[in-house]
Amino acid sequence: MNIQYLKIALCLVVTPVFQMTAQTKGINDLDPVVEHKIDSIIELMTVKEKVGQMVQYNGSFDVTGIPSDIDSKTKLEKLKNGEVGSMLNVLTAKATREAQQVVMENSRLKIPLLFGYDVIHGYKTMFPVPLGESASWDLEAMQLSASIAAKETAAAGVHWTFAPMIDVSRDARWGRIMEGAGEDPYLNSVIGVARINGFQGGNLDDIATIAACAKHFAGYGFAEAGRDYNTVNVGESELQNAILMPFKAASEAGVATFMNSFNEIDGVPATASSHLQRDILKGEWDYKGFMVSDWGSIAELIPHGFAKDKMQAGELAVVAGSDMDMEGRVYEEALEPLVSQSKIDETLLDAAVRRILRVKFHLGLFEDPYKYSDAKREKEVLLAPEHLVAARDIARKSIVLLKNENEVLPLKKDVKSIAVIGPLADDKDSPLGNWRAQANKNSAVSVLEGIKMAVGSATTINYAKGADLGMGERSFLMPLKINETDKSGFAEAVEAAENSEVVVMVLGEDAFQTGEGRSQTGIKLRGVQQDLLDAVSEINSNIVLILMNGRPLDLSKPNEQVSAILETWFLGSEAGNAIADVLFGAYNPSGKLPVSFPRNVGQEPLYYNQKNTGRPFSDMVTYSGYQDGSREGLFPFGYGLSYTTFEYGKLQLSAEEFSGDATIELSVEVTNTGKVAGKETIQLYIHDLFASRTRPVKELRDFRQITLEPGASKTVNFTISPKTLEFYTANKMWEAEVGEFEVMVGSNSVDLQKVTFQYKN
Ligand code: BGC
Repeated sequence: MNIQYLKIALCLVVTPVFQMTAQTKGINDLDPVVEHKIDSIIELMTVKEKVGQMVQYNGSFDVTGIPSDIDSKTKLEKLKNGEVGSMLNVLTAKATREAQQVVMENSRLKIPLLFGYDVIHGYKTMFPVPLGESASWDLEAMQLSASIAAKETAAAGVHWTFAPMIDVSRDARWGRIMEGAGEDPYLNSVIGVARINGFQGGNLDDIATIAACAKHFAGYGFAEAGRDYNTVNVGESELQNAILMPFKAASEAGVATFMNSFNEIDGVPATASSHLQRDILKGEWDYKGFMVSDWGSIAELIPHGFAKDKMQAGELAVVAGSDMDMEGRVYEEALEPLVSQSKIDETLLDAAVRRILRVKFHLGLFEDPYKYSDAKREKEVLLAPEHLVAARDIARKSIVLLKNENEVLPLKKDVKSIAVIGPLADDKDSPLGNWRAQANKNSAVSVLEGIKMAVGSATTINYAKGADLGMGERSFLMPLKINETDKSGFAEAVEAAENSEVVVMVLGEDAFQTGEGRSQTGIKLRGVQQDLLDAVSEINSNIVLILMNGRPLDLSKPNEQVSAILETWFLGSEAGNAIADVLFGAYNPSGKLPVSFPRNVGQEPLYYNQKNTGRPFSDMVTYSGYQDGSREGLFPFGYGLSYTTFEYGKLQLSAEEFSGDATIELSVEVTNTGKVAGKETIQLYIHDLFASRTRPVKELRDFRQITLEPGASKTVNFTISPKTLEFYTANKMWEAEVGEFEVMVGSNSVDLQKVTFQYKN
């Protein structure tokens, strides 16, 4: 291009672009002015520069995948030449400013870099891991925690999080079950949207918000045998109804980006799937943001056996609609020659670049590429006291009371003596969970600390670790070593239990037992923990078991040994305080399981929204059950106790049939029949009895949370509309089919009342 022309063009087009006020609308609402400016920029770009926008490099801070081989000098040159559009893992206001400067001061077109990072459950202030937080069923609280995470992330110069993960996951063996909202498509949808709204706020251009990313598109949570990255085989009905529902909701909510997934579905790796990315996402759903690959997933088309080399991998991925190559080093090598050899059309690149620039415009980066990188703000915002207050509140809301025999909980604050036992009891690190972003190591409040702060001086605390769980170096990429043999601390633990009125045992998983690549074949307490529980329970059976874990565990044996169980997941920075709040009754537990807890690993994948099969359960042999055990889990989806009790009145349906766009109302009176105030989550499930595609025996379609004083009642109303009934039908569309339905309401997926109605033409 003639340089004189370039200068004029930049003056005419790029200058106004840089001065424009960023848009406040969702990514799917196209603004003609922005689109025009994007056109003008694309017109100026060489093929190399276009490819550059589609390339994402790792910074040097936090490698979450296979380390890249490119040296920093080459990386720097590429940044200077405008051959990189985005970076991940470049953190702090200072580092992001410096990297941005390299691009803004050297590259020809000065298109700002986009910085991305995995902010999964907080940046510095840690909130509960997503599965745990989902147990709160509190959408407002989850939106708040995402907005605080966004505020901290943005203050550290980062524009974009690779969250929320909205992979429906039904398999406790899969380590990444911890990163999502569990087994239910509807719950994943509404929680996903709450998190997207929290991250993105009403205005992406606001310096307190960041772009979100709906991942992993699609099917990643359905990996065979719960083995990470493994093959997925589902048909269209299951794909749409069980897997894609949350992604559709995310697209409609205007999530700025999507990330594709490592797995193949039905023989086609998701990264190269035109069906998923072009036909469904960008076609049917008319989505306007961009698709980033997962780490190296374009290059992985080769080991998948789908592409013979990088050239073919690049071609397949770009044709299929993968817009940005995260650390795959494929697009930078393949796309330019593919265009020059006319193997792909340059308009494919234009379309991808358009989507990427759109997100940069929405973030206001053309207006001021440095606006997020403010060291002063960074200092003020990270770990702000109000963030910790919010973290404690959402943490206690996420705790699920699974068992409370003889009302052993809440403990009295003047209890004479408490034994606090277990490898996780004074662990200040595991509560931070995996995918902990920039959390300071060992910075969580431990359970022991929380208890000490909650009790008065009259209570003696007898602490004994009992045994180690995770040993040696514990980090994102290192395999975790578990203590399988050392029981030398047992005697001290038994003595502590013997001398105490009540025993609080803190067992479960090390933080690095769940997360990426952390699949397991077993889900019992690992290491010597069960032996420790056996030893302690022989001496004192008044045990409150506090569980820390990122996946459903097999609790069959512990459940028989202890009086009470609190499922506390990995609760983040304020874990110990939140747990003490619940232990001593300052907060009445209100969490409900977002995932079924099995009786043993052989039941996995276990989920409540199963199909009936042609042979529903009976005691006969030739039915769909097991001969050596129950087919029901130990604790069902939606389950969770309270320190009070709730009684449900009779379900009232406003009519027994409706049609077209009409609606009917269902109401139920709920009464707090116990002695303390409490929060209840009232769940509504639907069963479409006969349909063009078989439907689950029950499917969550709505829920409400209410708080009731003792003795108080409230009538809860649900509206049932065609939307409540819709699914992806044989007509290949989301619609309600006419017919007979059951609607069930109750306090978990098992304890339900049922009424029926007809939906007619
Ligand atoms: C994970 C993604 C993550 C990416 C970047 C990948 O290994 O699958 O979820 O966002 O790394 O860290």
